[in-house]
Amino acid sequence: MSLRFTADNVCKSYNGKSVLKECSFSFDRGCVYILMGPNGSGKSTFLRICALLEDPDSGEVKYYSDTTALNPSLPGVGLKGGLKKDIKLRRKITLVLPKIGLFNTTVFDNVAYGLKIRVYKKRDIEVKVNEVLEFVGLAHKKKLNALTLSSGETQRLGIARAIVLKPEVLFLDEPTASLDPQSTEMIEEMISRLKGRDRMTIIMVSHNIFQAQRLADMVLFMYDGRIVDYGTKKEFFERPKDERAYRFITGQMVY
Ligand SMILES: Nc1ncnc2c1ncn2[C@@H]1O[C@H](COP(=O)(O)OP(=O)(O)OP(=O)(O)O)[C@@H](O)[C@H]1O
Ligand SMILES: [Mg+2]
Repeated sequence: MSLRFTADNVCKSYNGKSVLKECSFSFDRGCVYILMGPNGSGKSTFLRICALLEDPDSGEVKYYSDTTALNPSLPGVGLKGGLKKDIKLRRKITLVLPKIGLFNTTVFDNVAYGLKIRVYKKRDIEVKVNEVLEFVGLAHKKKLNALTLSSGETQRLGIARAIVLKPEVLFLDEPTASLDPQSTEMIEEMISRLKGRDRMTIIMVSHNIFQAQRLADMVLFMYDGRIVDYGTKKEFFERPKDERAYRFITGQMVY
């Protein structure tokens, strides 16, 4: 079971300034999408809207389960209009922000929190948290206060908190920003394993061309609120269609 979703003509303005302009894209299950583009081009806003944390001004984001394809009469879950958001669906979607808010408690409890509020049994919580901490390489730090972790470890803890809930769609906003090559590699390895093991759909913002080349199935390039170019990794890097994407790839657009 896994989810796919579409953004359909998504528009968003803040204080009269248009930040997203008719953004449309279909995201397939089990793929890694890397979203690139200059600062302020709308990437994080697009992520929040796709992750159902914010409503667009117009347009919509629709999620489809496997069953929809089998039964076309089942509509996608429309999410326009705040409270219509389906709680079961919301639980399958997680956004990890670059500066995650950690609780001033142990690494273990930080990961366990999401399971506790979902009233999992104590024994189940222990098994799941230990498994996830092993996965992100933090098992040996589980008793430490989370606030003492390094920035690379903190990012991994953020991902641990998200994946312990077994999301089907994982949004990562610059998960390796300001990390050294070794921590970056650890996170990239985790992302590859999540894709392979769980067929998770992953949408990740990155400014790093090499990272996109290592991880992406598809690359999307945003510029001034629009998705101006996209393609498979090969298409995007070998034959960019948009001039600004071309300048970015060839190092002429430095930001
Ligand atoms: N909640 C908000 N209120 C007002 N303006 C906002 C809000 N969120 C985003 N913006 C504005 O929308 C524009 C796009 O912001 P966004 O964070 O989506 O860009 P970004 O592509 O993620 O940039 P960066 O690479 O710097 O993270 C910016 O001009 C920003 O100031
Ligand atoms: Mg951003």
